[in-house]
Amino acid sequence: YGAARVLVASNRGPVSYTVSEDGSLDAKRGGGGLVSGLSAIGSDADALWVCSALSDGDREAVRRGAGEDGVRMLDIPAGMHADAYNGIANSVLWFVHHMLYQTPLEPVFDAEFRRQWASYEAYNRAFAEALAEEAAQGAAVVVQDYHLTLVPGMLRELRPDLRIGHFSHTPWAPPEYFRMLPDDVAGQVLRGMLGADRLGFLTERWAQAFTECAERFAGGLGGTRVGVHGLGADADFLRKRAHEPDVEERMAALRQEIGEGRRTIVRVDRTELSKNIVRGLLAYRRLLETHDEWRERVVHVAFAYPSRQDLAVYRDYTAEVQRVADEINAEYGTPGWTPVVLHVKDDFARSLAAYRLADVALVNPIRDGMNLVAKEVPVVSDAGCALVLSREAGAHEELGEDAITVNPYDVTGTATALHEALSMRPEERAERSKRLAAAATALPPAQWFVDQLDALRG
Ligand code: G6P
Repeated sequence: YGAARVLVASNRGPVSYTVSEDGSLDAKRGGGGLVSGLSAIGSDADALWVCSALSDGDREAVRRGAGEDGVRMLDIPAGMHADAYNGIANSVLWFVHHMLYQTPLEPVFDAEFRRQWASYEAYNRAFAEALAEEAAQGAAVVVQDYHLTLVPGMLRELRPDLRIGHFSHTPWAPPEYFRMLPDDVAGQVLRGMLGADRLGFLTERWAQAFTECAERFAGGLGGTRVGVHGLGADADFLRKRAHEPDVEERMAALRQEIGEGRRTIVRVDRTELSKNIVRGLLAYRRLLETHDEWRERVVHVAFAYPSRQDLAVYRDYTAEVQRVADEINAEYGTPGWTPVVLHVKDDFARSLAAYRLADVALVNPIRDGMNLVAKEVPVVSDAGCALVLSREAGAHEELGEDAITVNPYDVTGTATALHEALSMRPEERAERSKRLAAAATALPPAQWFVDQLDALRG
């Protein structure tokens, strides 16, 4: 047996490497809930994070045996990883759980799919074997997300002594949609997940959908327990970070781009198909069309950061976002006013700057596991913001009462909601924003992780 007492497994790990000019390795540590959660469990010596080597630098770090303590990167063959990650995880499982397929043309489960599925199995097996090797007797293992659905079952066979948990950061599809997968594949996914002692989801809705799938297609949950942990925003970190000089600088630059005395509608997303950025822009255009009193008086600040650019549909979607934004600017813009300020280069400090300036936050995903932007903007915004929120975001379960709810497909409805948000009295807006921030920070990342471990061990 190995020495680790707490193990996390995820495709993307907490650190990534690049080889610098002089041949040395530069490590860049990522942020996010899991990273801060893991540092909250105390004695790091007992904790291990197993993840994929994703970049050339990562693979070089593995080859040199030069990785950080507490992290083990798996050098999965590039072709196998591409099949598992791009082919299955992002093009099939992501689409199923976010209900993104454009039937009747997609999906098509053909021989190519079968080939990729075999890679997904092998990739999951590589994780299961590494975890089995590293885990101490009776250790707790928390497996993350749709990339690794088969790991709990595989690991259970290798190491029946372990406490195995799995956490889904995405929605789970309802049975009628989930059954689109070939029956044997659907069965494998469910049995893989049910190899865990405990499954965690972000909201009741996704936990319920999983339970229904298990009941209909796998004979029930068996001994597996299902729990909900609604990951919240990290208020202390965000408020502190949002007042550092680089953020202030970016606020000044953004104010220039927005112009004096204008309202600001902010959205910040990775450019994922599920985020519904295009319909958001169309709703904004509709607002300008039907409420001409807002022309010259509002700016839509939209940050759409690159994601999964290996996939053609993602590249096309990114281009469409750009195209629609340009169209609105061409149609309504004036010499002193750019209606849409679109930025596509990832910049966390600028995101926080936009949060602080936001009068309205637009969060309208087609479907989303939680959506932390909806939780972060009210925490950070200087004057309090109104939140236009899709009823299909997991965050809606916690924030629905003080948000303005939209059906993400309804463009005219979303335009009306934007008008309502812009027109909200400042006192009401501030009060609602305060309540949103309180709900959004109820379960900070560190506690979220500790709760899962406690539940797994309990
Ligand atoms: C989103 C999802 C997570 C997922 C992540 C993977 O943030 O909410 O569930 O793990 O994407 O992103 P990546 O860039 O690694 O494909």
